[in-house]
Amino acid sequence: MKYCVIDVGSNSVRLMTWADGTTLYKKVCTTRLGEGVAYAPVLREDAMDRTARAIAAFAEEARAEGAFPQTFATAAVRTARNGEEFCARVKKMCGVELDVVSGEEEGELALCGALGGADGSVVDIGGASTEVCARRGGKRDFAVSLNVGAVRLYDRCGDDKARLSVAIDEEIAPLTAVLPPRTYAVGGTACTLAALMQGLEPYDAARVNDFPMTAEKVKALAHTLLALTPSERAALKGMDVRRADIIAGGALLLAKIMEKLGLGVVYASDRDNLEGYLFKKLL
Ligand code: LMR
Ligand code: MG
Repeated sequence: MKYCVIDVGSNSVRLMTWADGTTLYKKVCTTRLGEGVAYAPVLREDAMDRTARAIAAFAEEARAEGAFPQTFATAAVRTARNGEEFCARVKKMCGVELDVVSGEEEGELALCGALGGADGSVVDIGGASTEVCARRGGKRDFAVSLNVGAVRLYDRCGDDKARLSVAIDEEIAPLTAVLPPRTYAVGGTACTLAALMQGLEPYDAARVNDFPMTAEKVKALAHTLLALTPSERAALKGMDVRRADIIAGGALLLAKIMEKLGLGVVYASDRDNLEGYLFKKLL
């Protein structure tokens, strides 16, 4: 049986097609649904329009694959005042029902996608939120969802290193856990950093999965990216050009989370909440 899962993220809408124990392919459409939510918790008209159209196109693709378009939405829809209105609009446009997941559940989905049933931990840096979640002895022992992500940081601070630094320190203050190894980093920011470190072109999920990123390397890359303009970043081998503007703040966020949690290394994982949603809710 074939499954299609759609993640309506705050930076991008993503489709995963899965069958017989493997991910067949993933597709990404960057619509920036979370643009502006850093200022006011309201989804903007143009962002809603772009995103609804991307969902409709992926839903059509899912149906053409013979699968039901199982769709979930994360921080932007969860926190916006007009999130429900957006859900109704999507339903009307293409018949898709959005499952708006809580922050805690979002972390669990990432954990499940990256680790399956094993013990360990995960950091999911998204567009409008960041989840840190851990499992020890088969049980969840830590789960936090922070209102900080690559799109939100870019909206608030642009590429201003000092402002980014202050904003990130403030937002990650609640992170005090000692995470069980091993720790995976999922989401577009982390996977792009792994692709950049290896100069991957084209992007190759098999080479991103389990790629070790040390704290020193993540920090050094964050500072390199901050020193470049978005168009200089876009020219780097391995860069996803659609995130060349927001990647520097996202990289600094990962570097600071690693420092705060004392993580010497994280392993990149292209297996994320899309697989997690399937494993936890559909299989
Ligand atoms: C998101 O929150 O949009 C992420 O899941 C994916 C991304 O593009 O960073
Ligand atoms: Mg996400």
